[in-house]
Amino acid sequence: MEPKPWPGQPLGALICPVCAGSFSFTAEGTAGVACESGHRFDRSRHGYLNLITGSSSKFTPDSASMVRARASFLASGHFEPLVEGLDRAFADFAPQPGANPLIVDAGCGTGHYLAGLLRGAASGYPAIGLDLSPEALRHAVRANPGMLALVWDLWRPLPLAADSADALFVVFAPRNIDEFHRVLRPDGLLVIATPLPEHLSGLPALDGRLGQQPEKQAALAAAVEGRFTSLAETEIRVAATLHNAEAKDLLLMGPTGHHLDPEALRAMDQAEYRVHFGFRISAFRPLPTPTDPPVLRLPGR
Ligand SMILES: C[S@@+](CC[C@H](N)C(=O)[O-])C[C@H]1O[C@@H](n2cnc3c(N)ncnc32)[C@H](O)[C@@H]1O
Ligand SMILES: [Zn+2]
Repeated sequence: MEPKPWPGQPLGALICPVCAGSFSFTAEGTAGVACESGHRFDRSRHGYLNLITGSSSKFTPDSASMVRARASFLASGHFEPLVEGLDRAFADFAPQPGANPLIVDAGCGTGHYLAGLLRGAASGYPAIGLDLSPEALRHAVRANPGMLALVWDLWRPLPLAADSADALFVVFAPRNIDEFHRVLRPDGLLVIATPLPEHLSGLPALDGRLGQQPEKQAALAAAVEGRFTSLAETEIRVAATLHNAEAKDLLLMGPTGHHLDPEALRAMDQAEYRVHFGFRISAFRPLPTPTDPPVLRLPGR
């Protein structure tokens, strides 16, 4: 299926990863983009734009089977309380939209949370999603046909202009705090979702499964220190009874999916699993960038 034409607006926020120049469409909004200096990037037939040049990322993108598991699990609706929590954070704290409104989902995966926002409080906003996994972005474009989907490594400088985003969401994805600070408007909104320590308790401890994550709140607070101030924190806890296939999808779709022993996964034979989900949604506002301290001169020097 031919991807739909991109809306023009989010393109204004994109900058060329080679020369930082601005982009325009190469043909009728569907074929690709080129910057003022002629660096050209074609749009894949699945609708995303791969902006990675030079050596590929040292990080491993989610595989096709992990992405399939994620799409199928998220469609089950068990994580809807998280979708609603993200929507509430946007409704409560997003700044008034300016002339070029934009929301960004960093590590957007299959685009499930972006779709929730665009159906809800961010309805009508142009949106950009970035992810290292082209496979995930195929789903994201299907879920959000008007979005600009970028294959990008979040640990590199983002191909987005300074002060271009009203709100930036990071749901269980890498956090490049300095870059998020640069691309957000000074009154913009950063929303980060992280798992609570009890998240996914009730799933079997299979070989290759990463252990229970330690509390990450202190690490997040340290990472944003001096760059963002906290607006609100919300904790969401839910318990659900998952069918066998849902429990397997849940194990496969996370970081654990990179390491799981397929035999152990096949051997999971309970009809149902009682699983606990725990999410923390943290909302932040950028702090002004400190200017250089005034040079103090001692009298007579
Ligand atoms: C746990 S998934 C979360 C995806 C999505 N936010 C969600 O919750 O459904 C982590 C995502 O981060 C992406 N990712 C991991 N490392 C990345 C990197 N260095 N740059 C960009 N994306 C990355 C993965 O491909 C994956 O889609
Ligand atoms: Zn360029």
